[in-house]
Amino acid sequence: MFPQEVSIVEVGPRDGLQNEKSTLTADQKIKLIELLSNTGLKRIEAGSFVSPKWVPQMANSDDVFKALNIQHGIQYSALTPNLRGLEAAIEAGVREVAVFGAASESFSQKNINCSISESLSRFEAVFEMAEKHDIKVRGYVSCVMGCPYEGDISPEAVTKVSKSLIDMGCYEVSLGDTIGVGTPRATRLLLENVLKEVDVSKLAAHFHDTYGQALVNLYTAMEYGVSTVDSAVAGLGGCPYARGASGNVATEDVLYMLNGMGVSTGIDMNKLLVASSYISDILGRPPVSKAANALLTR
Ligand code: HMG
Ligand code: MG
Repeated sequence: MFPQEVSIVEVGPRDGLQNEKSTLTADQKIKLIELLSNTGLKRIEAGSFVSPKWVPQMANSDDVFKALNIQHGIQYSALTPNLRGLEAAIEAGVREVAVFGAASESFSQKNINCSISESLSRFEAVFEMAEKHDIKVRGYVSCVMGCPYEGDISPEAVTKVSKSLIDMGCYEVSLGDTIGVGTPRATRLLLENVLKEVDVSKLAAHFHDTYGQALVNLYTAMEYGVSTVDSAVAGLGGCPYARGASGNVATEDVLYMLNGMGVSTGIDMNKLLVASSYISDILGRPPVSKAANALLTR
C-alpha cells in the first residue's frame, strides 16, 4: 500500500510567502520559483489571486506569472477564491488553479468571508469558467484535524466538503491540517472516513508542522496510499487567518525521509538546498528544516 512514488507539490512560494512579514518583490519570487523548477519538482504553487487587502504578500502574483519562464513539464498553479480571481489568473497565463474551502464554519468565515455552503456556490462559477478555458481545478479543505476557532473537527465534516469538491469538478482535494494539530491517530481516523467517499488517487496531504507532527502524519497518510504531498521549501508558511499556524512541513525533510525509504520523487536534494538557501538568505534566517540545516552544515 505504501506508495513507491510520491508527487510533491511545492507550496512555498504561495503558502509560505503569504505569511511572511515582508513582501518579496516579483523578481525575488520568480528567482525562487526558477530555482525550485531546477530541482525536478513537477508541481509548484506560485501565487494567489485574492484580495490584496486580505493578503498583501500575494498582490504581485500577476507580475510573477506574467514574467515567469514557464518550464515544460512543470505545472505552476495559483489560488483563486472566486471568479474575479480566476479571471485575473487566466489573464496572467495560469493553467491550473485551486479553490479553497474549509471543514469549519468559523474558519470559512474568517478566511474567505462566507459560510461553507456559500463558498461552494461561489466555486460553481469558477468551475464553469475553468472548464471553458480548459484549466484544471484543485481543491483545498482547511482545518481537517482541528480549527483555531472551533477546536476539534469531525472527519465526517471533512469528508462532506471533500466529496462536494470532487463532485463539482476538482481533480484532486488537498487535506489541510492548517494549524498542524493532528497526530497519527487523528490522521488515521480522518483517512478512514474520507476514503469511504473519495478515491485515494484524488487525495493530497497538506500538513503544517506547528506541533512537529507533520512528518509522522504524512507517513501515516502514505500508509493509506496517499501519494501526493504538499510541502514548502525551508518550511516556509502559515496562514494569515490561523493565528499561530506555523509553516508547512519542509520539502527538504519530506525528501530526506522519502529518499531514505527508497520512494522516488524525481527531486534533487542538492538543487533543493540551493533554493532553500536562497529564500532563507532573503528572509535572514536559517531554513525551518532539520534536514536542510544538517545537510547545509555538513
Ligand atoms: P469579500 O470581502 O467577501 O469579497 O472577500 P468581496 O467580493 O465583497 O470583495 C471585497 C474586496 O476584495 C473588493 O475590493 C473586491 O474588489 C476585492 P474593495 O471594493 O474593498 O476595494 N476582491 C478581490 N481582489 C483581488 N482578487 C480577488 C478579489 N475578490 C474580491 N480575487 C475574498 C472574499 C475571498 C476575496 C477574501 O476573503 C479574500 O481574498 N480572502 C483571501 C484569503 C486567503 O488568501 N487566505 C490564505 C489562503 S488559504 C490557506 O492558506 C489554507 C491552505 O493553505 C490550506 C490549509 O493549510 O488548510 C490553502
Ligand atoms: Mg496551508
